[in-house]
Amino acid sequence: KILILDFGSQVTQLIARRVRDARVYSEIHPYDCDPEFIRKFIQEQGGKGIILSGGPSSVTEEGSPRAPQIVFELGVPVLGICYGMQTMATQLGGAVASAESLGKAREFGYSEVRAHGHTSLLKGIQDFSTSEGHGILKVWMSHGDSVTTLPPAFKLMASTESCPIAGMADEERHFYAFQFHPEVTHTLQGEAVLSRFVHEICGCKPDWVMGDYISEAVESIRKQVGDEEVILGLSGGVDSSVAAALIHRAIGDQLTCVFVDHGLLRLNEGDMVMEMFARNLGVKVIRVDAKEKFMSELAGVADPEAKRKIIGKEFVEIFQSESGKIENAKWLAQGTIYPDVIESAGKGKKGAHMIKSHHNVGGLPEDMHLKLLEPLRELFKDEVRELGVALGLPREMVYRHPFPGPGLGVRILGEVKEEFASLLQRADAIFIEELRNTIDEVSQKSWYDLTSQAFAVFLPVKAVGVMGDGRTYEYVVALRAVQTQDFMTAHWAHLPHELLGKVSNRIINEVRGINRVVYDISGKPPATIEWE
Ligand code: XMP
Repeated sequence: KILILDFGSQVTQLIARRVRDARVYSEIHPYDCDPEFIRKFIQEQGGKGIILSGGPSSVTEEGSPRAPQIVFELGVPVLGICYGMQTMATQLGGAVASAESLGKAREFGYSEVRAHGHTSLLKGIQDFSTSEGHGILKVWMSHGDSVTTLPPAFKLMASTESCPIAGMADEERHFYAFQFHPEVTHTLQGEAVLSRFVHEICGCKPDWVMGDYISEAVESIRKQVGDEEVILGLSGGVDSSVAAALIHRAIGDQLTCVFVDHGLLRLNEGDMVMEMFARNLGVKVIRVDAKEKFMSELAGVADPEAKRKIIGKEFVEIFQSESGKIENAKWLAQGTIYPDVIESAGKGKKGAHMIKSHHNVGGLPEDMHLKLLEPLRELFKDEVRELGVALGLPREMVYRHPFPGPGLGVRILGEVKEEFASLLQRADAIFIEELRNTIDEVSQKSWYDLTSQAFAVFLPVKAVGVMGDGRTYEYVVALRAVQTQDFMTAHWAHLPHELLGKVSNRIINEVRGINRVVYDISGKPPATIEWE
């Protein structure tokens, strides 16, 4: 396993992610942890290497962080990244200067470095080579300070014009360092470099799997929580579901989930959640049927943002009053995942333990004094899914499309009525069923898996139709299916016409009250994915 010492970089978690991708276990600890802990990690618990992360400080400032000296005395490979390189250089007898003192601009973003391929860490790894035969790596750099003098015994490993010492290595002692960040995906060969470091230089075997993550997480949740009680707001979404399954694995009945059914979920969703958690997994779930309350609060409200606010506020109130009834609860568990952590840090809330703002479950009363339990904080979405499957959640559930917190409330245009919700749920279920059942011949994937989000939207306008010998005058449903990486921009999905035709036929025949189906062919931007 690998020890990562954190100097406070925003991307330290990404180092752990890359190491996990290489199927090696790692732990992140603060740079100033007890040297005795580091010694034990390496000498008694099988630690095979140490990575020093980047950080916001400058080694040229007095009192700036240093790695415990023992890091360089244990005989294991050490990789310094950005600040980690600068502190390594300083501590081992090199020199570092600030950008100002060198009269240079700080360097942020894309850069091309010349890789000196003679080191075992970079040998053969490059993006392209120049006409002179120099290997070039496309990297992401973000730094003000630079190493200006190599420490004794170190050789140059990488350089750029503005940063002559962009990488250094002491092959004898297996100390390596980069000014750029191999952990970010913008550094194209970063994964190759980190995997070479942990496998070949440190000698770790690629044998770590999600199952190991479960046992480690279970142990750490038990330690954290002790014999106290935990509440979790279950939404049926992937993150809260996986968090519930994981925490339940750790502490069983000390976990109580509260599931607020606002009546604006997908067809049979409430029953499915209860079936999966209460029945199959044996999780304590309090199901709150709040349909009537939500419907009455929403009556007469047509404005999308007003609807969102009402749904959010009701949700928090109901969740608060239900969880207030759970005696001795000391913890609020949340399915916060790593991208949420970065997102809130990016909004100037660095270090703050923010409650997910777009989360279904808002803040609890201060006087409940609940501590936050967030066991997925270090994981990315794809890892959360992998974890969910490893915990025994159905694959179909874990790989579901995202569903907005306000649910069908923003897919029924204008005023929300129970009658509309019921029509929409049935139309939507037909659409999703056909997407799942239609396999694309080329990719051999279902159209559900080929789209990022797909759903039906209820249009509260009536259109004329003819059925049998009679004239009908009924509502319209729009189908929306998009393909996207990040949900910030999206293309409408080019679904096969036969599929669209079948869905339209089935909806019109099976859902009495709908006599027309249209397909949304708007991209984002300028349209959004949801209609409201
Ligand atoms: P838009 O419609 O903005 O949607 O293109 C982008 C993604 O965000 C989801 N979405 C929401 N999720 N509460 C949520 O939890 C909301 O109010 C909300 N509005 C949109 C949407 O489903 C899509 O995945």
